[in-house]
Amino acid sequence: MPRYLITSALPYVNGVKHLGNLVGSMLPADVYARFLRMEGEEVLYICATDEHGTPAEVSAMEAGMDVREYCDMMHERQKDIYRRFGLSFDHFGRSSSRENAELTKHIYLKLNENGFIEERTIRQIYSLEDGRFLPDRYVIGTCSKCGYEAARGDQCDGCASLLDPEDLIEPRSAISGSTNLEMRESKHLFIRLDLLAPEIEKWVDSHTDWPRLTSGVAKKWLNEGLQPRCITRDLSWGIPVPREGYEGKVFYVWFDAPIEYIGATWEWAKLLDDAVQDGSGEPGTRDWKSWWFGASDVHYAQFMAKDNLPFHTVIFPAMLLGTREPWTMASYIKGFNWLTYHGGKFSTSRKRGVFTDRALEIFPPDYWRYFLMAIAPESDDSDFTWPMFATIVNKDLAGNFGNFVNRTLKLTASRFEGGGIPGGGQWSPREERLQLDVNEALEEYRKCLRQMEFRKGVLALKKLWSLGNLYIDERAPWSLLKTDRDEAAMVLRTCINLVRTFALASSPFIPFTSKRVTRALGLKPEEAAVSMAQVGDLRVLGPGRPFEVPPVLFKRIEEADIEKMTKEFAGESV
Ligand code: MF3
Ligand code: ZN
Repeated sequence: MPRYLITSALPYVNGVKHLGNLVGSMLPADVYARFLRMEGEEVLYICATDEHGTPAEVSAMEAGMDVREYCDMMHERQKDIYRRFGLSFDHFGRSSSRENAELTKHIYLKLNENGFIEERTIRQIYSLEDGRFLPDRYVIGTCSKCGYEAARGDQCDGCASLLDPEDLIEPRSAISGSTNLEMRESKHLFIRLDLLAPEIEKWVDSHTDWPRLTSGVAKKWLNEGLQPRCITRDLSWGIPVPREGYEGKVFYVWFDAPIEYIGATWEWAKLLDDAVQDGSGEPGTRDWKSWWFGASDVHYAQFMAKDNLPFHTVIFPAMLLGTREPWTMASYIKGFNWLTYHGGKFSTSRKRGVFTDRALEIFPPDYWRYFLMAIAPESDDSDFTWPMFATIVNKDLAGNFGNFVNRTLKLTASRFEGGGIPGGGQWSPREERLQLDVNEALEEYRKCLRQMEFRKGVLALKKLWSLGNLYIDERAPWSLLKTDRDEAAMVLRTCINLVRTFALASSPFIPFTSKRVTRALGLKPEEAAVSMAQVGDLRVLGPGRPFEVPPVLFKRIEEADIEKMTKEFAGESV
């Protein structure tokens, strides 16, 4: 039996993330983790904030804060938002942890020992006024190709050319605006991807089941030929490089960030050690190494947006292979395309699109979870629009699922007052067929989620819900009540069992609503914690069991709401 390790690409610590970030890495991984736990699998779901690098430093400076304090604050803020979205991490760590520093140094030392590290001298821009080297994108100037005045040293947003800082006319520091810049030489370390290329290729080729997007990106990188890649930076915020002459330098943020998948697992284990110390934890239950080192029974799935694919299909594997140690490598890499916002980009600087903090202020988390997974940019980019949001919430959640739950429980409560789930009547062939249809829809749903085919999973779930509405409309218990009260009781009892099935099966997508419904049905914790294989049985809840009618589960979104939201989130015009 494999154990399942799941990681989501680590969100950068600076700034609250938008819904595109959420659906591109964290949310689908959470759905998958919740699903596998319900399948009875052993799951470890890990994420963390990605805290090093210039963006964190610069954001801290702009906030007038010390960079560590800034990261402390932003880590907590993000963690709280993800908790409110129901993301069920086993641990949400920090790449600035001591564990990560130790692992990063270890991996570097092994790579060095094995001949995969090379030193080179490079020329970089130094800002005398800022007293520091400037990364390419922190040099701003006029594009020599198109004349755009705010081009960055790595790229021009005016004409989309890739640039070198030398291509800029009148270059200045993006940090202070100072033009007092000069070229300086500095020594750096490079990882010899060129030497590791054949092994990486072999590893990539051994995974024939990866999504096309993932293999495509890996192949493209490999075919272009791998070059040695710089893994150090002239910065103070980061993990120090354990090598003479490298005082004042740190590892490049992209070197230590993926190692934090391992680091965060170690943090998770340490938390337990602390708990054991004060008597609140079971000793020996969290062995981070058993997941990461010499583990032959671990299935490891990584989730990320497509811009992260090169790092996870090529560079991180190279880092691990080059240690010549048995680190766990990805079994499956699930890449996502972009989520756009009304045809354009989500933009932090222009406040365009919906950000995770604000999203939760306007609608409950399950609206977002379901909607985002229903339009997840799985095989192509996909576009967030408010009319689409309203259609999906109204049709699927309020109409298909919510309506079935409410009309079933309401009708039963009003016609069989005080008696709980009504007794009487016998299943007919129609109910037998319903049971088979439910089993089949659930099988389809489980198959999709096993394969991490989330949009297909949503379709299968909708199909399952529709079986309820079809059944109740066909059997029309409101009419049966006048002719055959026992038969009506049996139909409603079957419908209440469908409510249970729907609520439990849907919980990977809409865990909060699922809980509200199972509470209304009076399920005990152990009854609500059944495995996916047991949710389809339509004879679990028998006569006499009390239940409550929950308030309306999903509010319909009206035309006026759509207009208001469209206006509020359009962003500032350029
Ligand atoms: N912070 C990066 C991003 O948002 C992702 C880092 S993934 C990791 O693009 F593997 F490096 F952690
Ligand atoms: Zn340009």
